[in-house]
Amino acid sequence: MALIGTLLLLAIGLLAYSRLTRPPFPPGPNPLPIIGNILDITSKELWLTAFKWARTYGPVTHIRIFNQSLVFLNTPKAVFDLLDKRGSIYSDKPHLIMAGELCGCENMAAFTPYGDRARRQRKLMQKAFGPAVIPRYHGLMQMESRPFLSRLVTSPLQFQEHIRRYAGGLTLLVVYGHQVKSNDDPFLTLAEECVDILANRIASGGGIWPVDIFPLLKHLPLWFPGTSFKRNAQIWKAKMEEFVDRPYEFVKSEIKKGTARPSFVSTLLELPKLSSSPFDTSFDSSSTTDDEGSSSDRDSSFSSHDTEVAKDIITDDHDHDIRWTANSMYSASIDTTITTLSHFILAMVQHPHVLQRAQAELDGVLGSRGDGLGSSQSVANRLPTFEDRARLPYCDAVFTETLRWGVPVPLSLPHRLTQPDTYEGMHIPQGSLVFGNIWAIMRDPGLYQDPEVFEPERWLADAIEEEEAGKDRDPRAFVFGFGRRRCPGTHLVESSVWLLITSMLATLDIRKARDEKGVEIEPVVKFENAVFRTPSPFVCDIRPRSEEALRLIMEEE
Ligand code: HEM
Repeated sequence: MALIGTLLLLAIGLLAYSRLTRPPFPPGPNPLPIIGNILDITSKELWLTAFKWARTYGPVTHIRIFNQSLVFLNTPKAVFDLLDKRGSIYSDKPHLIMAGELCGCENMAAFTPYGDRARRQRKLMQKAFGPAVIPRYHGLMQMESRPFLSRLVTSPLQFQEHIRRYAGGLTLLVVYGHQVKSNDDPFLTLAEECVDILANRIASGGGIWPVDIFPLLKHLPLWFPGTSFKRNAQIWKAKMEEFVDRPYEFVKSEIKKGTARPSFVSTLLELPKLSSSPFDTSFDSSSTTDDEGSSSDRDSSFSSHDTEVAKDIITDDHDHDIRWTANSMYSASIDTTITTLSHFILAMVQHPHVLQRAQAELDGVLGSRGDGLGSSQSVANRLPTFEDRARLPYCDAVFTETLRWGVPVPLSLPHRLTQPDTYEGMHIPQGSLVFGNIWAIMRDPGLYQDPEVFEPERWLADAIEEEEAGKDRDPRAFVFGFGRRRCPGTHLVESSVWLLITSMLATLDIRKARDEKGVEIEPVVKFENAVFRTPSPFVCDIRPRSEEALRLIMEEE
């Protein structure tokens, strides 16, 4: 008994000693005993609270929820120092019991623990969406953008649904070679059901469930009161697996029939025939992200030369990786694209002078003429293409400012620290969930003058040269996340969102709606989603700029 008492005292002494000798945690609001800062956090717009902490406590904030440390990195220096430069220990993902284990999302790229599987998945995504490959999708993007515009002018108030349909259609085409022809397309319906389950059920409230805090709850039997989360998880898991398997099996059967369109999945299924190892990068089609998180571009061979599936060569790992990576890209692209384009529409509604300046630039480049109705308004002769981009600096500035002002994922996604770390004299405990506070950076008046104001002019060459800080301030360095988990969809977004924005500007007037007395209605926007800063649907007036614009939108390819 005396021995146990001595050991206990020794253990307490050692713990106290280590607490006294280790550096302090980063500053933050005072935690309560046991529950920590649970009362300080909000389920909606947590980024606003985290922004206040950043103002009060400086570049790094620490809070605690029960035993779990959460760390917010509030400056470019802090995010790059830790998430980029120390990427080898800051790239893991939280182990979420509800989302990952019970609902089966642990194999999705955004949830995969850092290690071999995550590295393989990122290599595959680089093959599909590396910068050298994107031009191959330009035709598909152009093919999908005209129907988007026509749906938009037919029912403008449903603009978020149309963006969802566009992003979903483009991703199904690029990833599985499946062309969506109607709104009740079975793959589209299944995909939308799953994205809805993921965003609004599994990840509601930030994706943290009581079982994530008290893991023992997962062992309770299904009949036990309060275990509806387990029954729901079973249903959701089955749906997610159906969404992973059905489109994948479709591509396999198309390959067998010899009718597969070249796509991410078809190419990766066929490529092993050309190499002895499925991961041999000698056939690497685009660019790879190496272990240090940097990427190198190679010549692309993302095409379909051989239509037979190499069943004997494809390993189970490879099969599993392609299946889940393909699916992850779908889920990751929808809400982010809806959010970004909704912010663009909101910005145009609120800033008519920006819309007019961008339209004038487009008319100048695309060739303009009167609309044949005696109107003085001139209108573009054709829709924009990627060849026009270099001559449209103001439109590019509108796109850049939309990313900065809208901040689609304001706290990025959490990275998990795999070992204790010390940063500028502060102790960051192992297992901390680390958030890049993109919102605080994009609203930092030291980086962006009047950060609340939507002002594309800040991105025009002269303004940037004047400040000599263009590169460090480019929102693209932040809004897509950091280090080895940085968004692999950036190059796709760079093209697909640019094309949609310029096509809308060229053909549509986007204004405030008016009530029956002709008075302008101010759009009212709320942000309900815990992860994405998606504006709630708002009223606005979207219509073709002229008869000529309507003809351009409706004309068949
Ligand atoms: C404007 C649109 C988009 C924005 C703002 C955006 C932003 C982000 C952010 C902030 C992250 C978290 C990065 C981190 O953990 O540090 C992320 C991850 C991810 N994004 Fe995107 N994204 C967009 C579009 C897309 C698209 C179109 C795709 C796919 C085609 C995509 C695929 C992914 C995937 C798979 C991940 C998880 C990566 C990993 O954890 O390794 N995203 N994105």
